[in-house]
Amino acid sequence: MQQLTVSAPGKLMLMGEHAVVYGYPCLVTAVDSRFKLTLTEIDAPNLLLHAPDLGIIDYHKPINQIGKGDIPPKAQCIELSFKNFVQKYGINTGIKVETQSQFSQSYGFGSSSASIVCTMKALSQISQKKLTNQELFDLCYRTVIDKQGVGSGFDVAAAIWGGTLYFVTGGKAIEPLNINNLPLVIGYTGVKSDTTQIVKEIAKKKELYPAKIELIFKAISGLVEQGKRALLEKDWPLLGKLMNFNQNYLEDLGVSTEKLNSMVSSAKAAGALGAKLSGAGGGDCMIALHNGKNKQAIEKAIIQAGGEIVDIKAHAQGARIENL
Ligand code: MEV
Repeated sequence: MQQLTVSAPGKLMLMGEHAVVYGYPCLVTAVDSRFKLTLTEIDAPNLLLHAPDLGIIDYHKPINQIGKGDIPPKAQCIELSFKNFVQKYGINTGIKVETQSQFSQSYGFGSSSASIVCTMKALSQISQKKLTNQELFDLCYRTVIDKQGVGSGFDVAAAIWGGTLYFVTGGKAIEPLNINNLPLVIGYTGVKSDTTQIVKEIAKKKELYPAKIELIFKAISGLVEQGKRALLEKDWPLLGKLMNFNQNYLEDLGVSTEKLNSMVSSAKAAGALGAKLSGAGGGDCMIALHNGKNKQAIEKAIIQAGGEIVDIKAHAQGARIENL
């Protein structure tokens, strides 16, 4: 009976959130806080799931019922990954899945997408199917859409490739950026946001005010293109300015909150080169770019504004097999 453990990193959106749902690019970095998943072959033709960090314990389903009937929301990432893998490649064994996550679900680092990537990578490894990153992405992205109906897939790409990526909706472009560090401070608002809900609210706004929202998305897209060049040239002052402009547009979209605004402006007042919310908005995390010398001052300012510092590094390694 085979057993293997796979891990995948969490992610932080650097620039381009929301616009990336509508065909525009974004910049995303993987963070060195990892989701781990152990997959064991078992005799009984069942899927057994023990994933306390996803909020599901001792769940089981016969393999021939996978993807059918009611699936508890917390089992969906793994069961739907399983369904999509089995539909394409088949499987001839029962499977037990156990997870341990290094990051809290509240930060918005993408435990759902990381769990989908880990499941798919572990299943492909155990069934000896050699999938390219792009094939893995396509299966994982289909699972995200099955589960929540919306999403650009940027989080799945970050979990697979790792590092820092220039990414376009649905994986139309996935370009690893050759950089070696990213001087970020990460502040958590203490508020868990509901990404799917906020993405749907933006979709409604886009229906009501198509020209205005399209204008904002186009402007954000221009900032992302410049941000990509600034990243590659390590032009941190320019990247900081672009992040600030991006934050202004996110405020126009109505996804920032008072808490996020206050953490962002405190970081800037403490000398951050740039600061913005990261992700859907409504809560979760903000990011600030430091100049190598003012990291602690920025952290202090964020704490004074009521935030919590999340001490992790950006540009982390992508999905990997931990043991064989
Ligand atoms: C959420 O972290 C980022 C969004 O752009 C949604 C997505 O890209 O799937 C708001």
